[in-house]
Amino acid sequence: MEAKRVAVAGFGNVGKGVIEILLQKQIQELKLAKIVVKHPDKSRPFNVDPNLVTTDFATVVNDPTIDIVVEVMGGIEDARSLIMDALQNGKDIVTANKAIISSGAEIFSLAAKQRRIIGFRGTFVGCNTLIHDLSLSAGRIHKMCAILNGTCNYILSRMSRLGVSFEQALKEAQEQGYAEADASEDIDGLDTARKIQILSGVINNTFNMPSDVFCEGIREITMQDIQYSRELGYIIKLVGMVEREDNSATIFVRPVLMPQGSLLASVEDANNAIELEDNFGVVSILVAPGAGTYPTAVAIINDLLDIAHGDTSMMPTSSTPIILNDAGDIEARYYLRLTVIDQPGVLAQITRILGDHKISLASVIQKAEVSAKAVSVIVTTYTVREKELRAALAKIDHLEVVKAKTMVIQILA
Ligand SMILES: NC(=O)c1ccc[n+]([C@@H]2O[C@H](COP(=O)([O-])OP(=O)(O)OC[C@H]3O[C@@H](n4cnc5c(N)ncnc54)[C@H](OP(=O)(O)O)[C@@H]3O)[C@@H](O)[C@H]2O)c1
Repeated sequence: MEAKRVAVAGFGNVGKGVIEILLQKQIQELKLAKIVVKHPDKSRPFNVDPNLVTTDFATVVNDPTIDIVVEVMGGIEDARSLIMDALQNGKDIVTANKAIISSGAEIFSLAAKQRRIIGFRGTFVGCNTLIHDLSLSAGRIHKMCAILNGTCNYILSRMSRLGVSFEQALKEAQEQGYAEADASEDIDGLDTARKIQILSGVINNTFNMPSDVFCEGIREITMQDIQYSRELGYIIKLVGMVEREDNSATIFVRPVLMPQGSLLASVEDANNAIELEDNFGVVSILVAPGAGTYPTAVAIINDLLDIAHGDTSMMPTSSTPIILNDAGDIEARYYLRLTVIDQPGVLAQITRILGDHKISLASVIQKAEVSAKAVSVIVTTYTVREKELRAALAKIDHLEVVKAKTMVIQILA
């Protein structure tokens, strides 16, 4: 087999791993042909032949001897135009760019027209080894619940295990290199949302992924929530969820309370995990690192090898969009943390409103003072439609005795 000639656009955290493996591992099927960078004078972690390096996309896109372009630059505009031009010129693509693949209908359509392949394992590194099984399982996976962001899992693990504050745990995540200086994409859930969009596309065999996935991050989670949920037998995790019904799916990203003994609850630190439930109710789980130079570079190398071997089975092939269910129709149990004045009759006012909305309570616990004038009351509900709960809370949060917006966290059964 003649080796495929590969251009790598990007020599940063991910690119350096891909380039190092291509140069050092002597993979028979792959040959490094070009490296595209933005700043050619920047010092690199190892030396490469200067003739390989360019800043000009055209030298890659117009070179008929280059078979595959690996896009690991990040960003949107330049990356998209490189990918589109390379596809137009008959090249296969491998990318780790979540922002591009999660809204990738245009790119996948062009790839189909050009009969080219898009490898995108690097967009969900933590469960990329499942991609073939997932893509062959269209219609067979009922539910996917996944921890897809290492930064958030690290923060929540540190808060839970060591009792450090959110701010301190975030600082440690940044020091460890898990989180960017601006970690908002991670902690506001957007990174997880992109990954769950892509994964739902894979398990439903569509490249037309929903853009308005319900998304909540972990900014509002306090040490109180971590402690109270632990007392109730739960751990808080940020998850991405896809639950398929006949012709539609419920997809969301949010922190949830999960039972302490569950498999996903035991996934600590920056690890990622994916739990799958098939149509027969059988559950399996994979745990793996979700980012970093080598895990991501290896995911990319595996895509390159698939392309070299002519294996296209990881690509979604249908443009039929997923019909999204309204997140307000989620039926679940909920944890509520209310901040109220410590005086007789307050609980009665709250439970009356919840009762008016037919919301039954599983437990009500009054906790210690959170300030001179307010206490926390922790309520867990039985199963309720989320819309109904939100309607009740809109009234509760307007009561004079309620001193802060009520914290709401879904409980996973
Ligand atoms: N880091 C991870 O663990 C991880 C995991 C999964 C997915 N990803 C994804 O992988 C991609 C790359 O991430 P990264 O962490 O490797 O980024 P990075 O460290 O910032 O590296 C970006 C590289 O792209 C080059 N570049 C940027 N814009 C360019 C342009 N317009 N023309 C030519 N070169 C350009 C930069 O060149 P210079 O070096 O010359 O400035 C740099 O080498 C992103 O889409 C990211 O979301 C990353």
